[in-house]
Order: sequence, then C-alpha cells, then structure tokens
Amino acid sequence: MSTLHLRRGGTSVVVDMTAQPHPAIVHWGRELVGSTPLSLASLALAARPQRVSGGLDETPRLGLLPTPAGGWLGTPGIEGHRDGAGGSIRFELAGVQSNYHRATISLVDSEAQLAAQIELRVGASGLLHQRILLRNTGASRYTLQSLQIIFPMPWDATEILDTTGRHLRERTPQRRAFTFGTHTRESRRGRPGADATLLLAAGRPGFGFENGRVHGIHVAWSGNHRVTAERTTTGEAFLSGGELLLAGEVILAPGESLQSPWVIGSWGDGLTELSARFHEEWRARPQHPRRPRPVTLNTWEAVYFDHSLEKLAALADAAAGVGVERFVLDDGWFTGRRDDTAGLGDWFVDRDVWPDGLHPLIDQVRELGMEFGLWVEPEMINPDSDLARRHPDWILRGRMALPPSARQQQVLDLAHPDAYDYISGRLHALLEEYPIAYLKWDHNRDLVDAGSGPGGSSRVHDHTLALYRLLDELKARHPRLEIESCASGGARVDLGILDRTDRIWTSDSLDPLERLANQRYTGLVVAPELMGMHLTSPIVHASGRTVSLALSGAVALFGHFGIEWDLTAVDEATREQIVWWVALAKRLRPLIATGRVVHVDGTDPGIDVRGMVAADAASAVFTITQTETSVAYPAGRVRLPGLDAERRYRVRVIAADGRGDHPGQSPLAWAHQDTALTGLELESVGLRPPVQFPQQARVLELLTDD
Ligand code: DGJ
Repeated sequence: MSTLHLRRGGTSVVVDMTAQPHPAIVHWGRELVGSTPLSLASLALAARPQRVSGGLDETPRLGLLPTPAGGWLGTPGIEGHRDGAGGSIRFELAGVQSNYHRATISLVDSEAQLAAQIELRVGASGLLHQRILLRNTGASRYTLQSLQIIFPMPWDATEILDTTGRHLRERTPQRRAFTFGTHTRESRRGRPGADATLLLAAGRPGFGFENGRVHGIHVAWSGNHRVTAERTTTGEAFLSGGELLLAGEVILAPGESLQSPWVIGSWGDGLTELSARFHEEWRARPQHPRRPRPVTLNTWEAVYFDHSLEKLAALADAAAGVGVERFVLDDGWFTGRRDDTAGLGDWFVDRDVWPDGLHPLIDQVRELGMEFGLWVEPEMINPDSDLARRHPDWILRGRMALPPSARQQQVLDLAHPDAYDYISGRLHALLEEYPIAYLKWDHNRDLVDAGSGPGGSSRVHDHTLALYRLLDELKARHPRLEIESCASGGARVDLGILDRTDRIWTSDSLDPLERLANQRYTGLVVAPELMGMHLTSPIVHASGRTVSLALSGAVALFGHFGIEWDLTAVDEATREQIVWWVALAKRLRPLIATGRVVHVDGTDPGIDVRGMVAADAASAVFTITQTETSVAYPAGRVRLPGLDAERRYRVRVIAADGRGDHPGQSPLAWAHQDTALTGLELESVGLRPPVQFPQQARVLELLTDD
C-alpha cells in the first residue's frame, strides 16, 4: 500500500507510506470525498519536494517522527541518549495495521535500539488523535528528553491563535503571524497552568469563529507540556505537541516502554466547527455526565473559612429554596483549617468546628432534596499540618530546602507509595462515611522543583500518572461519584483530566464580563456543560465590579449553572429573581448539554453575541450582551448564525435587565410584535440589538414555528 487514507466525521488523513526514511502525513483536514487509491498516490507524489542548491541531496521530509539522522533540520520529534551516547535516531517503517479510521504504524531503529508505535485515530466527529508508544529495545538505559507528535499544516495557514492568562483571567487569546521559525508554548508548572494555551491553532489570515480554515492541537495531559508551531525554509509548516519532560524524568530500562499522552487535532472552516468536533466527541464518551447538570451552590464566596453549622444550615435552606440541587461545602472543614495557612493533608473533619462531624449538615442538605459535595485538595500539604510533621519526606522537593512556598503550601509526593496509600485511604474513608455525591478537587499551586527528595529525580511525570490512577480508582469504587477539576479556578483544564472528571471550575473570577472571554476560549475545547458557571454576588469578589443579576444569569446560562453567593443575605425581591434564573437554567439545560455553541464574528465592538443551537436546529438561545457603549446609537443589526437556513424562527426576548429603558427610547419593534425570520435571514441579515446600558444582557429564545 503506497498511501493510507483514514477518514471519518468529515476529516481525512492521508499518509504517504513510501516517504523516506519513514511515512509522512501529506494531508490532514477536509475529507477527500471521491479520492481513489490512484489519486491519493498522486497526492503523495505531488507533496514530494525537489532537491535544491545549497541543501541536502534529499530535501528533508516531515515524517511522523523526524530526526536529524533522517535528514530533518527542524525541531526533532524525538531526542534522547544512553548516558550521553546514542543520540542518532533514524526510524524506518516496520509495519502497519489499519482500518478505515485508525492505524498503528510501527517504526524501528535497530541501531539506536528503539521502537515506536504511532497510533492515529480519526474520531466520529473528525478529531485526529495521535499518540506514540516508545520502547527501549536495547540492553542499556535510555534517557528520553522529548517526544513530540507532528501535525502537518497547510502552507497557507499563516496566522497563529493561542491563549495565555493568569489567576482570575485564564484563556486570554493572542494572535501573531505564523512566520519562519518556531513559536513554542510550554507549561513547566506541573499542571497546564492559568497561562497555558488550551489550543494552539493556525489558519488562514483573519480566521474567526464563523469562517476561515483553521487547524489546532491540544495535549490531553495534566502535567507539563509543550506545543510548537514551526515553519521551515524547506516548505513545511506544522504543529507539534507532547509532554514536556524534565531532566531525567523518563529513563527507560531495557525492554521498558513509555506511552505518550494523546495529542488531539481538530480543524474547521472557522473555530465554531473546530470546537464542535471536540464537544461532540467528548459528549459521545460512555463516561460523559448525561443526567441533567444539577444546579450547584458552592459555599466558598458565601462563607470562605468561616464555617459553622448554623450558618451553613441556613445557607442550605436558602439554596434549596431557590431550586439548588447540589450543595458543595468548600475549603475549611478539616482539621486545623481555619485559614489558608494550615491543615492541608489532615483530611479529618475538624471536631472543633464540627463536633458531630459533617452528618448534621449533610443530613439536612439531603432532607432538603439536594446532593452533597465536598471540597478536597488531595495533592497538597501545608508544612503546618500533622501530616507534614509526621512525614516531612512526603513533600516533593529537589534539594534539602523546600521549594518556594505558594499559598503557604507544598506538594505531596503522590508517587510515593505510602503517601498515595494515605491519601487514597482518607478519600475512600470519607466517601464511605458520608453520602458524598461530588468532590471539588482543587490544586492551588504550581509544582516547582518537584523532586523525589534532596538530590532525587523530577516527579512531575510520575505525579501526573499517580493522580490519574487515584482518580480512576475513586471512580471505579464509587461509580456515581462526580468530580470537579479545579486549580485556583481554571489552571488545570485539559482533556486528560476531563476524561476522569465531570466538570472544570472555569475561573475564580465570577465577573460575568471577564467570564465572556474566558468561556468563549475555554469552549474552544471544552463542551459548555462541563464548565462550572456561577451566579455572583452583586459586588464581584474578584474584580470589585458591581454587576446585575441579569448579566450574571445570562452569562452563567451557557455552562453548568450554579450559584456562589451568600443567599442568606439577599432580599425577597432578589431571591425571587434568583428563583426565576434557576428555573430558566433548568429549562434550558438539555439544550446547553447537547446543542452547538455559536459565536458571532464582526459584531459591534461593544456587543457580544453568542448562542446555543439545538442539535436538531429546532430551537436556539442567544444572548446579546452590551459589554461597553457602542459608537452607533442605536447599534447596527446583529446576525444570529448557525440555524437551519430554511426554517422560520419566532424570536422572543425571555430575559432582560430593565435598566436599559432610557426615557428617550422607543420600544424595539421586533421585540414587541410577532417576529419570525428564516435561519438564512437571521444569519445573513440579522436584527437590531436592543439599546442597552453597558454591562447588560438580553436572552433571546428562538423556536421554529413548524
Ligand atoms: C481555589 C478555588 O478555585 C476556589 O473556588 C476555592 O475552592 C478555593 N481554592 C478554596 O481554597
């Protein structure tokens, strides 16, 4: 076979099996409907470069695992050595197994004594998954320095999009030209980090959500990672991704193998199509949380560390009264945890605060008809804890001195068998003693100098594997348990953790205006129902901004809806509004959990338009948010794309913030009459947005009238 054609879900991957020194992907993207073995052989031929002056006699090819000994002059796919020797690697094809959407390509280098199995799988929604199993076939130890997986890009992808951020502002987009050389993003924090890019994407200039061909990759791994966009002067452009290995972290004994994380690529004509592939495929997994996402109340911003049964019982009453279905007790319930300086590691209910344990609170929560959830941070340890005093050797460190402190805490060596057994034992004991339906699993610091002890080896790789094992074991023993992945908000958001958990805490910023961008770019990869979105108290704790309930509600609707607010202190009128928003979130959640996310390009800079369109396109919900004043007054029409072009939709405002009605304003014509437009009319022409004061939102519901 000269070419391999994998196709599914609108995507084709064509591999030239005759490329030298080993196979090379010659196309990843649009499904090549109508291609024949003959045309694909020609496609492969058409990708072959000429020899040119001043270059190697064979112009280098971007193979599946390119290396200098194979003629590759860009960043190698693999680097390693045997005690300083054996750095030359040149993989050759040893075999292939394939069906129409997956293949395992075996490569060997008998001189370097390495074997690699590259798995390629095109998912039902057209995602390309790749991972590599590397085996040391030699008789000496092999130190692996890096293993990066290659995704070739169309040459005309000339603009890069990635995200950066910080605590309280994760996933801020940044764009740049995809020029010659490399653009690399790394995480060295032992978790992806608030500043990590969730997706490294490149596309035609100016690509947006609605249009413009774009490809992107994501590393499904919760430890350190590296992604690179590279353009070479030999006419190759590609994205690569993999785990970032610290010095000496992976040393393969003779016969030993390393399985890389999956690196997942998506593409689309616009980012909406690219992200829909991620959402659809994640939703199709057997473990995907399918029951309606319970409206959640989290106690953190309501009480912080100030725990008392009386206060929390009152909060539970108030929560049930507005329709909350899950009550989550956040940080502060365990021994010595009166503030954030002490206690992590001592996972016993603090008897000074909870003399009868958590039973009285949990009993009440359940009697009120809610599930109970509990906050934990199992990978962490405070030096001021009984655990640290008993087992100082369980703290990750690379030298005698402890690593720089963060939030007064250190990291527990989860790869240490005794530390693992202790943590696992405590979690299982809590889950057995109490009817806990949900764990909010936090991780509040970066892993810095995270070694196995003074002079020991780096532990991030092993720590990440131990974390996965722990999560998998908990899920196996408590199959109905749901877990939220939190890391000071959204500092550990990746599809590795989301394969084992049921939602992420998207950000510690509950500010709806900040959340708009955060949600849009987290949504590049993460489906909306997996993103925790909470109603905030009117003065946002993270930003100090005063926001309306209508704005907070409209933004939180497009996620896993919840509340983080001291409901015992709200007045009756506000309480009634909260009841209304909770009811709306419950009514719309089936759509949020199955629909297609739509972001609208080219809208007035002061206006954000986004929507959720039902899978059968029979209904949709859009929000029109006035983020700042518009220059045009009233603003020009906004489009509502993503609907069925031929069907007619009745458009209705279902939620608004009355502050927008300025005395000089006349009513918005379409909102006060029977208005039904076709999907094509809404997408191509649109309607006048309501005049709103800044920081207000309207929620529109669209229903087909057939
Ligand atoms: C950081 C989380 O993101 C917050 O929601 C809260 O759980 C605190 N940690 C508790 O310490």
